[in-house]
Amino acid sequence: MIIVTGATGRIGRALVDRLDRHAVARRAVVRQPRHVAELGGDVTLADFADPRSIRAALVPGARLLLNGVPGPDFVHQQRSIIDLAAEAGVAQLVKISVRGAAPGALLAQGQHGEIDDHLRASGLPYLILQPVGFMQNLLPEVSFTDGEGRFYGSYGSGPVGYLDARDIADVAAALLTRPVEANATLTLTGPEAYTHQEVAETMTAVLGRPVHYVDLPVAAMAQRLRAAGLPPAFADDLARLMRDVGDGRWADTTDTVQAITGRPPRTLATFIADHATSWT
Ligand SMILES: NC(=O)c1ccc[n+]([C@@H]2O[C@H](COP(=O)([O-])OP(=O)(O)OC[C@H]3O[C@@H](n4cnc5c(N)ncnc54)[C@H](OP(=O)(O)O)[C@@H]3O)[C@@H](O)[C@H]2O)c1
Repeated sequence: MIIVTGATGRIGRALVDRLDRHAVARRAVVRQPRHVAELGGDVTLADFADPRSIRAALVPGARLLLNGVPGPDFVHQQRSIIDLAAEAGVAQLVKISVRGAAPGALLAQGQHGEIDDHLRASGLPYLILQPVGFMQNLLPEVSFTDGEGRFYGSYGSGPVGYLDARDIADVAAALLTRPVEANATLTLTGPEAYTHQEVAETMTAVLGRPVHYVDLPVAAMAQRLRAAGLPPAFADDLARLMRDVGDGRWADTTDTVQAITGRPPRTLATFIADHATSWT
């Protein structure tokens, strides 16, 4: 049995679809009643805010995908679920983390760093997947006005090896359906790194409509994020994170997706073509 938390998210939904296509026994964990019928099959209603509700979905010998969204109580919740999974006799936990996770790092990287360390010390067999930024982020970030697309950041000329979240689901599916292997932390990237200017050029070429990347000083980017409604401290840290990425720290790519799935990760052009109607 493979138990998938965050089953309605960008990774979880693709993973559930893939497991269903291959008739692999799975249990989807969702928090909203409307998703029970939508996903169908074996679905448990549970909320990370009540870790015991997650515990009720767990069975001895199961493999667990732990996925969720960073927030104020994220570290406590995910650590509790790891402890409950160990208590329940889960055979292996595969956790979605983030590239650069380390205690004390900015935003999600800091939170994941604390949780990843907890998992490593838990005694549970584990695999930690540390993906770089998702191509799917472009869906809400690029907006079109008068036929021209724009997105904003403080990345300068630092390239990023953006990854399609569908590839993370494919990696998770492969790992969760083969025998439990040695604990490891795996960095996942797309096939090549792009500057944000190159992302805009690729979108322009594939969509046939002009798309512009607008690079802002970090203070102006933080102000823009605040104006969009993000909490001030979060907006400031996010803009700083963008600036940090500008030093090229995420410019290298790994062959992990190819090694685990047997095929190369999806290119940015493929992602854009597959989602072309999303920006209309
Ligand atoms: N976005 C990126 O570029 C990026 C890069 C690297 C790593 N990551 C990491 O990837 C992980 C997933 O991010 P994502 O953007 O893919 O998320 P996502 O698509 O929004 O999926 C999150 C899932 O978690 C579920 N969830 C949220 N709060 C819950 C709760 N209290 N109880 C039960 N389920 C809950 C959501 O359910 P609902 O449908 O009910 O909301 C959804 O199914 C995060 O840990 C993030 O830090 C993201």
